[in-house]
Amino acid sequence: MDVIICPDESQVGIVSAAKIAKLAAEVGPKVVFGVATGSSPLATYAELARRVATGKLDVSQAQAFALDEYVGLPHDHPLSYTDTIRRTVTEPLGLDPDRVHVPDGRLEGLADAGERYEAAIKAAGGVDIQILGIGSNGHVGFNEPSSSLHSRTRMKTLTQQTREDNARFFESLAEVPRHCVTQGLGTILDARHVVLVANGVGKAAAIAAIVEGPVTAMWPGSVLQLHEHATIVVDEAAASLLTLADYYRQAYESLPAWQRLDL
Ligand code: F6R
Repeated sequence: MDVIICPDESQVGIVSAAKIAKLAAEVGPKVVFGVATGSSPLATYAELARRVATGKLDVSQAQAFALDEYVGLPHDHPLSYTDTIRRTVTEPLGLDPDRVHVPDGRLEGLADAGERYEAAIKAAGGVDIQILGIGSNGHVGFNEPSSSLHSRTRMKTLTQQTREDNARFFESLAEVPRHCVTQGLGTILDARHVVLVANGVGKAAAIAAIVEGPVTAMWPGSVLQLHEHATIVVDEAAASLLTLADYYRQAYESLPAWQRLDL
């Protein structure tokens, strides 16, 4: 696992986007992204969009697979992840909407929504670069604590903590859906590269647990310790409980030229 500690959220966006752009250039224009919703990657998407606009990143043939979707919200609901991904990823980056996929959270067809999504990812050749945020309880995607470390895309029940964390987007807690369809931890592990971003002191315990704690279903993001190419980009506040913070800083500062990021 590589941990990069940045002074603030905007630098997290710049550094994570530079990492993603470097990986995307290595893959080529047919790169397949995995994309998270939520606040954490917004600065990353804004920076990726800037790179597309200046011709530094070619996504003309790229595909994208969202991590998750709420169950029961219509696709055009502004808080559905289908609509959120359209606003925050598809349109700013100029992706072809037909190549952007979101799990199907509609009630009809829910039983095989996971299988259909797994088949679509497989047909695309798998995810090259998975962009992740993390919940304050350590969830990635909506794989809540106690999720199987081998899980595949399926319906999950959201914890009270997650519903409270996400209530800020809704009119009230009662409106936050109770269920979602999410890529599994096994699905996420299949991505060739993972870039996780986190900001703020509210994520500090989760970051310390998943980077330096044991691999455990109680902190689902800790499964990334088993991934060969996982990069964690955090601001100082999210890094504040990391025991080896100085080591991560030194490692980043002394990267050999071929591994350095073009910021
Ligand atoms: C979003 C997702 C979640 C979020 C996490 C953090 O698609 O799968 O894991 O990344 O809940 O959300 P924010 O970034 O809003 O704090």
